Amino acid sequence: MSFVLHRQVSQPAPVAVAGRGAWLIDAAGKEYLDACAGAAVSALGHNDPAVARAVVDQMSRLSYAHTSFFSSESAERLAQALVEAAGEPFSKVFFTSSGSEAVEASIKFARQHFVEKGESQRRHVIGRWQSYHGNTLGALSAGGNKLRRALYGPLLLDMHHIDACYAYRGLAPGESLDEFGLRMADQLEAKILELGPDTVAAFIAEPVVGATLGAVTAPATYFPRIREICDRYGVLLIFDEVMCGMGRLGHLFAFEAVGVRPDIVCIAKGLGSGYQPIAAMLLTQDVVQPLVDGTGSFMHGHTYQGHPVACAAAEVVLAKISTPEMLRRVRDAGKRLVEGLRGRLGNSPHIGEIRGEGLFVAIEFVADAVTKAPFPHTSRLNARIKQEAWDRGLLVYAMGGAVDGRSGDHVLLAPPFIVSDEEIDRIVELFAEASSAALEQVATAGSRPGSSR
Ligand SMILES: Cc1ncc(COP(=O)(O)O)c(C=O)c1O
Repeated sequence: MSFVLHRQVSQPAPVAVAGRGAWLIDAAGKEYLDACAGAAVSALGHNDPAVARAVVDQMSRLSYAHTSFFSSESAERLAQALVEAAGEPFSKVFFTSSGSEAVEASIKFARQHFVEKGESQRRHVIGRWQSYHGNTLGALSAGGNKLRRALYGPLLLDMHHIDACYAYRGLAPGESLDEFGLRMADQLEAKILELGPDTVAAFIAEPVVGATLGAVTAPATYFPRIREICDRYGVLLIFDEVMCGMGRLGHLFAFEAVGVRPDIVCIAKGLGSGYQPIAAMLLTQDVVQPLVDGTGSFMHGHTYQGHPVACAAAEVVLAKISTPEMLRRVRDAGKRLVEGLRGRLGNSPHIGEIRGEGLFVAIEFVADAVTKAPFPHTSRLNARIKQEAWDRGLLVYAMGGAVDGRSGDHVLLAPPFIVSDEEIDRIVELFAEASSAALEQVATAGSRPGSSR
Protein backbone atom coordinates (compact mmCIF):
# COMPACT_ATOMS: atom_id res chain seq x y z
CA MET A 1 0.00 0.00 0.00
CA SER A 2 1.44 3.37 -1.02
CA PHE A 3 0.05 6.82 -0.23
CA VAL A 4 2.21 8.45 -2.87
CA LEU A 5 0.44 9.49 -6.07
CA HIS A 6 2.84 7.72 -8.39
CA ARG A 7 3.33 8.60 -12.04
CA GLN A 8 1.34 5.47 -12.88
CA VAL A 9 -1.48 6.15 -10.47
CA SER A 10 -2.39 2.56 -9.69
CA GLN A 11 1.06 1.07 -10.08
CA PRO A 12 3.45 2.06 -7.28
CA ALA A 13 7.04 2.45 -8.43
CA PRO A 14 9.64 0.14 -6.87
CA VAL A 15 11.48 1.78 -3.99
CA ALA A 16 15.09 2.81 -4.56
CA VAL A 17 17.15 2.50 -1.39
CA ALA A 18 20.71 3.17 -2.41
CA GLY A 19 22.92 4.57 -5.13
CA ARG A 20 26.57 3.98 -5.95
CA GLY A 21 28.41 5.51 -8.90
CA ALA A 22 26.39 4.77 -12.04
CA TRP A 23 24.17 2.28 -10.19
CA LEU A 24 20.88 2.36 -8.27
CA ILE A 25 19.69 -0.39 -5.95
CA ASP A 26 16.06 -1.15 -5.09
CA ALA A 27 14.51 -2.47 -1.89
CA ALA A 28 14.70 -6.05 -3.18
CA GLY A 29 18.45 -5.68 -3.72
CA LYS A 30 18.27 -5.56 -7.53
CA GLU A 31 20.93 -3.34 -9.12
CA TYR A 32 20.27 -1.05 -12.09
CA LEU A 33 22.86 0.52 -14.37
CA ASP A 34 21.61 4.09 -14.70
CA ALA A 35 22.19 4.70 -18.42
CA CYS A 36 20.08 7.87 -18.47
CA ALA A 37 21.08 9.43 -15.14
CA GLY A 38 17.37 9.57 -14.31
CA ALA A 39 16.50 12.21 -16.89
CA ALA A 40 20.05 13.37 -17.66
CA VAL A 41 20.33 14.52 -14.05
CA SER A 42 22.94 12.54 -12.10
CA ALA A 43 26.03 13.80 -13.93
CA LEU A 44 28.30 12.91 -11.00
CA GLY A 45 26.64 9.58 -10.41
CA HIS A 46 25.13 8.57 -7.10
CA ASN A 47 26.48 9.14 -3.58
CA ASP A 48 29.46 11.36 -4.16
CA PRO A 49 30.84 11.82 -0.62
CA ALA A 50 32.18 15.35 -1.24
CA VAL A 51 28.73 16.62 -2.20
CA ALA A 52 27.15 14.88 0.78
CA ARG A 53 29.73 16.51 3.09
CA ALA A 54 29.04 19.97 1.62
CA VAL A 55 25.30 19.48 2.20
CA VAL A 56 25.75 18.39 5.80
CA ASP A 57 28.23 21.16 6.48
CA GLN A 58 25.96 23.87 5.07
CA MET A 59 22.91 22.44 6.81
CA SER A 60 24.69 22.46 10.16
CA ARG A 61 25.57 26.17 9.80
CA LEU A 62 22.65 27.72 7.92
CA SER A 63 19.80 25.68 6.52
CA TYR A 64 17.59 28.49 5.23
CA ALA A 65 17.29 32.26 5.02
CA HIS A 66 14.57 33.87 2.91
CA THR A 67 16.00 35.82 -0.04
CA SER A 68 13.84 38.87 0.74
CA PHE A 69 16.01 39.30 3.84
CA PHE A 70 19.35 37.64 3.12
CA SER A 71 21.66 36.22 0.55
CA SER A 72 23.87 33.31 1.58
CA GLU A 73 27.57 32.56 1.25
CA SER A 74 26.95 29.48 -0.87
CA ALA A 75 24.57 31.32 -3.25
CA GLU A 76 27.09 34.14 -3.67
CA ARG A 77 29.96 31.73 -4.34
CA LEU A 78 27.94 29.59 -6.75
CA ALA A 79 26.69 32.61 -8.71
CA GLN A 80 30.23 33.92 -9.03
CA ALA A 81 31.52 30.54 -10.20
CA LEU A 82 28.74 30.29 -12.81
CA VAL A 83 29.28 33.81 -14.14
CA GLU A 84 33.03 33.24 -14.35
CA ALA A 85 32.51 29.93 -16.13
CA ALA A 86 30.00 31.41 -18.59
CA GLY A 87 32.27 34.39 -19.29
CA GLU A 88 31.39 37.77 -20.78
CA PRO A 89 28.75 39.11 -21.22
CA PHE A 90 27.00 37.13 -18.46
CA SER A 91 26.83 39.00 -15.17
CA LYS A 92 23.97 37.79 -12.97
CA VAL A 93 22.36 34.55 -11.83
CA PHE A 94 18.83 33.92 -10.58
CA PHE A 95 18.42 30.60 -8.78
CA THR A 96 15.29 28.45 -8.81
CA SER A 97 14.53 24.90 -7.72
CA SER A 98 13.59 23.30 -11.06
CA GLY A 99 14.14 23.65 -14.79
CA SER A 100 10.51 24.67 -15.34
CA GLU A 101 10.88 27.49 -12.81
CA ALA A 102 14.07 28.67 -14.52
CA VAL A 103 12.24 28.79 -17.85
CA GLU A 104 9.25 30.61 -16.32
CA ALA A 105 11.66 33.12 -14.80
CA SER A 106 13.38 33.66 -18.15
CA ILE A 107 10.08 34.37 -19.92
CA LYS A 108 8.97 36.79 -17.22
CA PHE A 109 12.37 38.45 -17.14
CA ALA A 110 12.25 38.97 -20.91
CA ARG A 111 8.84 40.61 -20.57
CA GLN A 112 9.93 42.86 -17.71
CA HIS A 113 13.13 43.79 -19.55
CA PHE A 114 11.08 45.28 -22.38
CA VAL A 115 8.53 46.96 -20.14
CA GLU A 116 11.37 48.66 -18.26
CA LYS A 117 12.83 49.77 -21.59
CA GLY A 118 9.55 51.38 -22.58
CA GLU A 119 8.71 48.66 -25.13
CA SER A 120 5.70 47.20 -23.39
CA GLN A 121 4.18 46.16 -26.71
CA ARG A 122 6.72 43.30 -26.78
CA ARG A 123 4.75 40.37 -25.42
CA HIS A 124 5.13 37.45 -27.81
CA VAL A 125 7.28 34.44 -27.08
CA ILE A 126 8.27 32.09 -29.88
CA GLY A 127 9.37 28.51 -29.23
CA ARG A 128 9.71 25.43 -31.42
CA TRP A 129 7.53 22.45 -32.02
CA GLN A 130 8.91 19.19 -30.70
CA SER A 131 10.86 20.75 -27.89
CA TYR A 132 10.24 20.79 -24.15
CA HIS A 133 10.75 23.56 -21.64
CA GLY A 134 8.96 22.22 -18.58
CA ASN A 135 5.54 21.36 -17.23
CA THR A 136 4.40 24.58 -15.53
CA LEU A 137 1.85 26.34 -17.70
CA GLY A 138 4.13 29.07 -19.05
CA ALA A 139 6.95 26.68 -19.85
CA LEU A 140 4.51 24.16 -21.34
CA SER A 141 3.06 26.91 -23.54
CA ALA A 142 6.50 27.90 -24.80
CA GLY A 143 7.38 24.27 -25.45
CA GLY A 144 6.19 22.26 -28.38
CA ASN A 145 5.95 18.76 -26.96
CA LYS A 146 2.57 17.85 -28.40
CA LEU A 147 2.18 14.78 -26.21
CA ARG A 148 2.64 16.73 -22.97
CA ARG A 149 0.61 19.75 -24.14
CA ALA A 150 -2.45 17.91 -25.44
CA LEU A 151 -4.47 17.54 -22.23
CA TYR A 152 -3.81 21.10 -21.09
CA GLY A 153 -4.50 22.83 -24.40
CA PRO A 154 -7.37 24.97 -23.03
CA LEU A 155 -5.15 26.29 -20.22
CA LEU A 156 -2.08 27.15 -22.26
CA LEU A 157 -0.96 30.69 -22.99
CA ASP A 158 -0.96 32.04 -26.49
CA MET A 159 2.65 31.45 -27.50
CA HIS A 160 4.00 30.79 -30.98
CA HIS A 161 6.09 28.07 -32.56
CA ILE A 162 8.30 27.41 -35.52
CA ASP A 163 9.31 23.94 -36.70
CA ALA A 164 12.00 21.84 -35.07
CA CYS A 165 15.35 21.73 -36.84
CA TYR A 166 15.24 17.95 -37.25
CA ALA A 167 17.37 16.97 -40.21
CA TYR A 168 16.65 13.23 -40.11
CA ARG A 169 13.02 13.92 -41.00
CA GLY A 170 13.17 17.44 -42.43
CA LEU A 171 15.97 17.50 -44.99
CA ALA A 172 14.60 18.16 -48.49
CA PRO A 173 15.89 16.06 -51.43
CA GLY A 174 19.22 17.44 -52.64
CA GLU A 175 19.48 19.90 -49.75
CA SER A 176 22.73 20.12 -47.77
CA LEU A 177 22.69 20.17 -43.97
CA ASP A 178 23.91 23.76 -43.97
CA GLU A 179 21.14 24.83 -46.35
CA PHE A 180 18.61 23.01 -44.20
CA GLY A 181 19.88 24.83 -41.09
CA LEU A 182 19.45 28.22 -42.76
CA ARG A 183 16.02 27.35 -44.14
CA MET A 184 14.77 26.29 -40.72
CA ALA A 185 16.27 29.32 -38.97
CA ASP A 186 14.60 31.63 -41.48
CA GLN A 187 11.25 30.42 -40.19
CA LEU A 188 12.00 32.56 -37.13
CA GLU A 189 12.26 35.69 -39.23
CA ALA A 190 9.01 34.84 -41.01
CA LYS A 191 7.25 34.32 -37.67
CA ILE A 192 8.60 37.59 -36.24
CA LEU A 193 7.39 39.47 -39.31
CA GLU A 194 3.99 37.77 -39.12
CA LEU A 195 3.54 38.77 -35.45
CA GLY A 196 4.96 42.25 -35.92
CA PRO A 197 8.68 42.76 -35.20
CA ASP A 198 8.14 45.21 -32.37
CA THR A 199 5.76 42.85 -30.55
CA VAL A 200 8.13 39.89 -30.07
CA ALA A 201 10.00 39.62 -26.76
CA ALA A 202 11.89 36.35 -26.96
CA PHE A 203 12.73 33.19 -28.84
CA ILE A 204 13.45 30.11 -26.74
CA ALA A 205 15.18 26.92 -27.89
CA GLU A 206 17.05 23.91 -26.60
CA PRO A 207 20.50 24.00 -28.27
CA VAL A 208 20.22 20.22 -28.52
CA VAL A 209 16.67 18.91 -28.34
CA GLY A 210 16.49 16.47 -25.46
CA ALA A 211 13.57 14.32 -24.43
CA THR A 212 11.09 15.21 -27.15
CA LEU A 213 13.16 14.30 -30.21
CA GLY A 214 16.14 12.55 -28.65
CA ALA A 215 19.50 14.33 -28.77
CA VAL A 216 18.86 16.23 -32.00
CA THR A 217 21.68 18.63 -32.82
CA ALA A 218 21.23 21.45 -35.33
CA PRO A 219 23.43 21.96 -38.41
CA ALA A 220 26.29 24.44 -37.82
CA THR A 221 24.48 27.20 -39.74
CA TYR A 222 21.31 27.15 -37.66
CA PHE A 223 22.04 28.94 -34.39
CA PRO A 224 24.34 31.62 -35.89
CA ARG A 225 21.46 32.55 -38.24
CA ILE A 226 19.02 32.49 -35.30
CA ARG A 227 21.30 34.87 -33.37
CA GLU A 228 21.47 37.21 -36.40
CA ILE A 229 17.69 37.27 -36.71
CA CYS A 230 17.18 37.95 -33.00
CA ASP A 231 19.68 40.82 -33.19
CA ARG A 232 18.03 42.25 -36.30
CA TYR A 233 14.65 42.52 -34.59
CA GLY A 234 15.79 43.18 -31.01
CA VAL A 235 14.39 39.84 -29.80
CA LEU A 236 16.00 38.16 -26.77
CA LEU A 237 17.47 34.72 -27.35
CA ILE A 238 16.85 32.27 -24.49
CA PHE A 239 18.69 28.95 -24.45
CA ASP A 240 17.08 26.18 -22.46
CA GLU A 241 20.11 24.14 -21.46
CA VAL A 242 18.25 22.40 -18.66
CA MET A 243 18.97 18.97 -20.14
CA CYS A 244 21.83 19.47 -22.59
CA GLY A 245 23.92 21.90 -20.52
CA MET A 246 26.23 21.52 -17.51
CA GLY A 247 28.80 19.35 -19.24
CA ARG A 248 26.49 16.86 -20.92
CA LEU A 249 27.76 17.72 -24.42
CA GLY A 250 31.39 17.74 -23.32
CA HIS A 251 31.24 21.53 -22.84
CA LEU A 252 30.10 23.08 -19.59
CA PHE A 253 27.51 25.17 -21.45
CA ALA A 254 25.68 23.96 -24.53
CA PHE A 255 26.05 27.42 -26.06
CA GLU A 256 29.78 26.70 -26.34
CA ALA A 257 28.96 23.69 -28.50
CA VAL A 258 26.75 25.66 -30.90
CA GLY A 259 29.05 28.69 -30.97
CA VAL A 260 26.42 31.32 -30.16
CA ARG A 261 25.89 33.35 -27.00
CA PRO A 262 22.27 33.73 -25.94
CA ASP A 263 20.96 36.59 -23.79
CA ILE A 264 19.55 34.27 -21.14
CA VAL A 265 20.56 30.68 -20.31
CA CYS A 266 18.50 28.27 -18.21
CA ILE A 267 20.37 25.44 -16.52
CA ALA A 268 19.23 22.73 -14.10
CA LYS A 269 19.55 18.93 -13.93
CA GLY A 270 23.37 18.47 -14.02
CA LEU A 271 23.87 21.57 -11.82
CA GLY A 272 22.43 19.77 -8.81
CA SER A 273 23.25 16.36 -10.24
CA GLY A 274 20.35 15.00 -8.23
CA TYR A 275 21.91 15.89 -4.89
CA GLN A 276 19.67 18.93 -4.44
CA PRO A 277 16.83 20.49 -6.45
CA ILE A 278 18.47 23.51 -8.03
CA ALA A 279 18.29 25.36 -11.33
CA ALA A 280 19.32 28.79 -12.52
CA MET A 281 18.93 31.47 -15.13
CA LEU A 282 22.05 33.34 -16.22
CA LEU A 283 21.62 36.83 -17.63
CA THR A 284 23.83 39.18 -19.58
CA GLN A 285 24.37 42.70 -18.23
CA ASP A 286 22.48 44.15 -21.24
CA VAL A 287 19.41 42.20 -20.25
CA VAL A 288 19.65 43.21 -16.59
CA GLN A 289 20.51 46.89 -17.10
CA PRO A 290 16.97 48.17 -17.84
CA LEU A 291 15.87 46.83 -14.43
CA VAL A 292 18.85 48.49 -12.76
CA ASP A 293 17.93 51.78 -14.43
CA GLY A 294 14.21 51.27 -13.90
CA THR A 295 12.19 49.81 -11.04
CA GLY A 296 15.20 48.06 -9.55
CA SER A 297 13.41 44.82 -8.73
CA PHE A 298 12.51 41.65 -10.62
CA MET A 299 8.77 41.16 -10.14
CA HIS A 300 9.06 37.41 -9.57
CA GLY A 301 10.31 34.99 -6.94
CA HIS A 302 9.91 31.71 -5.09
CA THR A 303 10.19 30.75 -1.43
CA TYR A 304 13.07 28.35 -2.00
CA GLN A 305 15.05 30.31 -4.59
CA GLY A 306 18.77 30.38 -3.87
CA HIS A 307 18.42 27.78 -1.12
CA PRO A 308 21.75 27.75 0.78
CA VAL A 309 21.94 23.96 0.99
CA ALA A 310 21.10 23.46 -2.68
CA CYS A 311 23.70 26.07 -3.63
CA ALA A 312 26.32 24.41 -1.42
CA ALA A 313 25.74 21.07 -3.15
CA ALA A 314 25.83 22.66 -6.61
CA GLU A 315 29.08 24.44 -5.81
CA VAL A 316 30.84 21.10 -5.34
CA VAL A 317 29.07 19.56 -8.34
CA LEU A 318 30.04 22.47 -10.57
CA ALA A 319 33.68 22.32 -9.50
CA LYS A 320 33.76 18.62 -10.42
CA ILE A 321 31.86 18.67 -13.72
CA SER A 322 33.66 21.69 -15.12
CA THR A 323 37.24 20.41 -15.06
CA PRO A 324 38.86 19.92 -18.49
CA GLU A 325 39.47 16.25 -17.56
CA MET A 326 35.80 15.64 -16.79
CA LEU A 327 34.63 17.37 -19.98
CA ARG A 328 37.15 15.40 -22.06
CA ARG A 329 35.95 12.21 -20.40
CA VAL A 330 32.35 13.09 -21.41
CA ARG A 331 33.43 13.49 -25.04
CA ASP A 332 35.50 10.29 -25.06
CA ALA A 333 32.89 8.22 -23.26
CA GLY A 334 30.24 9.58 -25.64
CA LYS A 335 32.29 8.48 -28.65
CA ARG A 336 32.69 5.02 -27.20
CA LEU A 337 28.96 4.80 -26.56
CA VAL A 338 27.99 5.91 -30.09
CA GLU A 339 30.59 3.67 -31.74
CA GLY A 340 29.49 0.74 -29.60
CA LEU A 341 25.83 1.28 -30.49
CA ARG A 342 26.60 1.70 -34.19
CA GLY A 343 28.74 -1.43 -34.18
CA ARG A 344 26.16 -3.51 -32.36
CA LEU A 345 22.91 -2.10 -33.82
CA GLY A 346 23.88 -0.17 -36.93
CA ASN A 347 22.89 -2.96 -39.34
CA SER A 348 19.42 -3.46 -37.92
CA PRO A 349 16.68 -2.56 -40.42
CA HIS A 350 14.85 -0.86 -37.55
CA ILE A 351 17.50 1.66 -36.56
CA GLY A 352 16.70 5.01 -38.13
CA GLU A 353 19.49 7.04 -36.58
CA ILE A 354 22.02 6.87 -33.75
CA ARG A 355 22.89 10.48 -32.90
CA GLY A 356 23.97 12.94 -30.26
CA GLU A 357 26.95 14.69 -28.79
CA GLY A 358 28.99 13.95 -25.66
CA LEU A 359 27.05 11.76 -23.26
CA PHE A 360 23.74 12.82 -24.77
CA VAL A 361 22.91 10.07 -27.24
CA ALA A 362 19.69 8.77 -28.78
CA ILE A 363 18.58 5.89 -30.92
CA GLU A 364 15.56 6.44 -33.16
CA PHE A 365 13.70 3.30 -34.20
CA VAL A 366 11.73 2.96 -37.42
CA ALA A 367 9.57 0.29 -39.02
CA ASP A 368 11.45 0.83 -42.29
CA ALA A 369 14.91 2.39 -42.42
CA VAL A 370 14.52 3.33 -46.10
CA THR A 371 11.18 5.15 -45.94
CA LYS A 372 11.76 6.19 -42.28
CA ALA A 373 8.18 5.11 -41.56
CA PRO A 374 7.70 4.85 -37.79
CA PHE A 375 6.06 1.97 -35.99
CA PRO A 376 2.40 2.65 -35.23
CA HIS A 377 2.16 4.18 -31.77
CA THR A 378 -0.13 1.31 -30.76
CA SER A 379 2.86 -1.04 -30.92
CA ARG A 380 4.32 0.84 -27.89
CA LEU A 381 7.82 -0.01 -29.00
CA ASN A 382 9.59 2.54 -26.79
CA ALA A 383 7.69 1.39 -23.69
CA ARG A 384 8.57 -2.22 -24.49
CA ILE A 385 12.25 -1.34 -24.82
CA LYS A 386 12.16 0.46 -21.48
CA GLN A 387 10.58 -2.60 -19.86
CA GLU A 388 13.01 -5.07 -21.48
CA ALA A 389 15.92 -2.89 -20.39
CA TRP A 390 14.50 -2.64 -16.87
CA ASP A 391 14.19 -6.44 -16.70
CA ARG A 392 17.91 -6.63 -17.52
CA GLY A 393 18.83 -4.05 -14.87
CA LEU A 394 19.32 -1.14 -17.29
CA LEU A 395 17.60 2.25 -16.95
CA VAL A 396 16.92 4.11 -20.22
CA TYR A 397 14.81 7.19 -21.09
CA ALA A 398 12.33 5.95 -23.70
CA MET A 399 9.94 8.31 -25.49
CA GLY A 400 7.33 8.30 -28.21
CA GLY A 401 5.93 10.97 -30.47
CA ALA A 402 8.99 12.34 -32.26
CA VAL A 403 7.26 12.17 -35.64
CA ASP A 404 3.91 13.82 -34.95
CA GLY A 405 3.38 13.84 -31.20
CA ARG A 406 2.11 10.26 -31.24
CA SER A 407 4.15 7.98 -33.43
CA GLY A 408 7.93 7.71 -33.46
CA ASP A 409 10.06 5.80 -30.94
CA HIS A 410 13.38 6.83 -29.53
CA VAL A 411 15.50 6.11 -26.50
CA LEU A 412 17.79 8.62 -24.84
CA LEU A 413 21.01 7.45 -23.21
CA ALA A 414 22.67 9.99 -20.93
CA PRO A 415 24.75 8.13 -18.35
CA PRO A 416 26.58 9.80 -15.46
CA PHE A 417 29.90 11.35 -16.50
CA ILE A 418 31.77 9.01 -14.15
CA VAL A 419 30.62 5.93 -16.12
CA SER A 420 33.52 3.53 -16.82
CA ASP A 421 34.42 2.04 -20.22
CA GLU A 422 33.26 -1.36 -18.98
CA GLU A 423 29.94 0.13 -17.94
CA ILE A 424 29.52 1.75 -21.35
CA ASP A 425 30.15 -1.58 -23.05
CA ARG A 426 27.61 -3.14 -20.75
CA ILE A 427 25.04 -0.44 -21.57
CA VAL A 428 25.54 -1.19 -25.29
CA GLU A 429 25.17 -4.93 -24.79
CA LEU A 430 22.12 -4.76 -22.53
CA PHE A 431 20.48 -2.14 -24.72
CA ALA A 432 21.02 -4.24 -27.85
CA GLU A 433 19.46 -7.25 -26.13
CA ALA A 434 16.54 -5.21 -24.80
CA SER A 435 15.75 -3.55 -28.11
CA SER A 436 15.89 -6.76 -30.11
CA ALA A 437 13.59 -8.47 -27.58
CA ALA A 438 11.15 -5.55 -27.84
CA LEU A 439 11.30 -5.55 -31.66
CA GLU A 440 10.58 -9.27 -31.64
CA GLN A 441 7.50 -8.71 -29.45
CA VAL A 442 6.24 -6.04 -31.85
CA ALA A 443 6.83 -8.33 -34.84
CA THR A 444 4.98 -11.17 -33.11
CA ALA A 445 2.08 -8.92 -32.10
CA GLY A 446 1.92 -7.58 -35.66
CA SER A 447 1.69 -11.00 -37.26
CA ARG A 448 -1.24 -12.03 -35.06
CA PRO A 449 -4.61 -11.78 -36.80
CA GLY A 450 -6.61 -8.76 -35.68
CA SER A 451 -3.57 -7.01 -34.23
CA SER A 452 -3.37 -3.23 -34.35
CA ARG A 453 -0.58 -3.33 -36.95
C1 LIG B 1 14.99 21.04 -21.85
C2 LIG B 1 14.19 21.01 -20.59
N1 LIG B 1 13.70 22.14 -20.11
C3 LIG B 1 12.98 22.18 -18.95
C4 LIG B 1 12.73 21.03 -18.26
C5 LIG B 1 11.93 21.08 -16.98
O1 LIG B 1 12.74 20.85 -15.90
P1 LIG B 1 12.10 20.35 -14.49
O2 LIG B 1 11.57 18.99 -14.75
O3 LIG B 1 13.27 20.40 -13.55
O4 LIG B 1 11.06 21.34 -14.14
C6 LIG B 1 13.23 19.81 -18.72
C7 LIG B 1 12.95 18.56 -18.00
O5 LIG B 1 13.11 17.48 -18.49
C8 LIG B 1 13.97 19.80 -19.92
O6 LIG B 1 14.46 18.66 -20.42
